[in-house]
Amino acid sequence: RKKVTINTLRSLYAAKTPITMITAHDFPSGLAADLAGVDIVLVGDSLAMVALGMEDTNQLPLSAMLHHSRAVARAIKSAFLVTDLPMGSYEVSAEQAIASSIKLVQEGRTQAVKLEGGAEMAPTISRLTSLGIPVLGHIGLTPQRQSALGGFRVQGKTLGSAQKLLADALALQQAGCFALVVEAVPEEVARIVTDELEIPTIGIGAGKGTSGQVLVQVDMLGYYPDGRFMPKFVKRYANLFEHAKTGIEEYMREVRSGEYPQREHTYPMSQEELEAVRG
Ligand code: KIV
Ligand code: NA
Repeated sequence: RKKVTINTLRSLYAAKTPITMITAHDFPSGLAADLAGVDIVLVGDSLAMVALGMEDTNQLPLSAMLHHSRAVARAIKSAFLVTDLPMGSYEVSAEQAIASSIKLVQEGRTQAVKLEGGAEMAPTISRLTSLGIPVLGHIGLTPQRQSALGGFRVQGKTLGSAQKLLADALALQQAGCFALVVEAVPEEVARIVTDELEIPTIGIGAGKGTSGQVLVQVDMLGYYPDGRFMPKFVKRYANLFEHAKTGIEEYMREVRSGEYPQREHTYPMSQEELEAVRG
């Protein structure tokens, strides 16, 4: 499979072919995504929750994103790789955002960065894109700002907030974003935003009117015990948690019963050497 570049993404958008994007947080999850042939792999700061067990994304330092981004990058051969700028690594100034983004490219081996926010981020995004660092915007439900939003809530449901969403989207496009993640907004609002733009929208909980879709890999593969909270937009395509647990239980049973290991799992030795060892 050919390497997905920013031009590939433009061609997919022009051809109205839905863009596929999924998160990864380590080498094996990156490998699964890349070998499946997904267009964009995102090292999302959701890894704070899904890989590190944190309560939210806001305690995740840039150093952790660098570590995970680098691990995922080792697995990526064809997908376009994007890494989240975590909270606190880009809001202070454009200079801060530039320094953090260069680290994500140099040390995290990513190809593009994602940051949350609307028109207020446009000057920073312009600086980044003018330096040749592609930027993926993220509007609607922006988890790093959950406290100000009153939690993980659907956005753009009122006239005022839908108008702000559209204005933000246009400002981010103007600033040079190559695409926008649109999270948790009504389907019709996401469709209107998509229709008004000349860059792709990648929806999550935004219905089918966007130019592509993104999901958190751990969520969509069911790598969690039942009963854990899942947003309503998550569809489960596998049940990895049950698979993993059942496999571990079977291994334990076989160790206890002596069924594992068998001869085939051991290293052979010549009779001659064995007799010499025995003396
Ligand atoms: O961190 C993340 O996984 C994300 C996606 C859900 C878009 O930002
Ligand atoms: Na994120």
